[in-house]
Amino acid sequence: MEAIVLAGGFGTRLRPLTYRMPKALVPVAGRPMIMHLIDSLPSEVDKVVMAVSYMRDALESHFKENPVDGVEMVFVEEREALGTGGAIKNVEKEISGDFLAFNGDIISSVEPMALYGMLKEKSAKAVISLWKVEYPSHYGVVDLGPDMRINRFVEKPAPGEEPSNLISAGAYALSYDVLDLIPSGRVVSLERKIWPILVEKGMYGLPFEGYWTDAGTPERVLEANAILLRNTGKEAIVDENADVRGEVLPYSSIGNAVVKDGAVVENSIVMDGSTVKSGVKVKDCIIGPKMDVKRDCEGEVIA
Ligand code: GTP
Repeated sequence: MEAIVLAGGFGTRLRPLTYRMPKALVPVAGRPMIMHLIDSLPSEVDKVVMAVSYMRDALESHFKENPVDGVEMVFVEEREALGTGGAIKNVEKEISGDFLAFNGDIISSVEPMALYGMLKEKSAKAVISLWKVEYPSHYGVVDLGPDMRINRFVEKPAPGEEPSNLISAGAYALSYDVLDLIPSGRVVSLERKIWPILVEKGMYGLPFEGYWTDAGTPERVLEANAILLRNTGKEAIVDENADVRGEVLPYSSIGNAVVKDGAVVENSIVMDGSTVKSGVKVKDCIIGPKMDVKRDCEGEVIA
C-alpha cells in the first residue's frame, strides 16, 4: 500500500528554526519528527511517497543516510509549493490505488488501517482521522453524523461558530479517484477546496483516542516532545555524546550539545552543537543547532 507524506511546507510558525532546517527534521524526543510518523506506519505500507518542496535536499539526504527498512521511499518535488492538495496531485504518478496520506508534522496514536478499513466498508471517497480538542477554532472542524458521515467541514471557524470539537488530525485514507478532483500544477488546499467537494460525495470521519499533536508551533513541538518522552517513561533524552554538567529537567531532549555547570534546561529541546553556558536557565525553549546560549531564556526559539 502507498502512503503519501506531506513534508514540503515552509513551517513559517517555527521560524527562525525553519530557516535552518525543514520542520520534518526538527528533533523531537531525540529523532527528527518525521521519523516518529514513518515508524508508526502500518506494515501494509511498502511505499512512502514524500511530497517535498521547501528544503527538499536536506530531507532527501536524511533518508539517504537513514534508509527505512522494507519501505520504498520516493521523493517527488514541487518546484513551487503547491499546498496540501496540489502536493497530493503532484505525486499522482506514484500512486496506483486507494492510499493513505499524512501531514508530516503529526505525532499521534492514529491507526491508519482503521481509516483504510472504513474507506472500504463505507465505499467512501475519504476517511479522515478526528481528534477532540477543547478549542477547535484554529483547526479544520467537522460536523459528524451518527453514521460517521461528515456533514460539514469548516476550516478554522471563528470562535463560537465551530460545528463540534472534533478536528481533522492530519491522517487520511483516500480513494484513488480523489486524485481526479484536484487540478494539476496549481496551488490547492485540501482543507479549503477538496474536503468541501468530498463532503458532498461521501466523506467519513473516525475519532481516535490516545495522543495527538501537530507539531507546527514551538509550543506544540515541545508538547510533542513531552508526549513522546512520557510514552517511553522517560523524563529526558540526552545524546550519548552530550557533555552535561548542569541540570536537565523534564521534559527535555538534548542532542550532541554542552550544558555547562550550574545551567538548567527545563522542558526544552537543545540541538546538536549548541552550548548552554554556565548558570544559564533555559525553560520552554527550542535551541537550534550550533547556538551559544549565554542568557536566561523562556518560551523562545533560538536559531
Ligand atoms: P506553517 O507555515 O507554519 O503553517 O507550516 P506548514 O508550511 O508546514 O503548513 P501546515 O502546518 O499547514 O502543513 C501541514 C503539513 O503539510 C506539513 O507537514 C507541511 O510540510 C505540509 N505542507 C504544507 N504545504 C505544503 C506544500 O505546499 N507542499 C507540500 N509538499 N507539503 C506541504
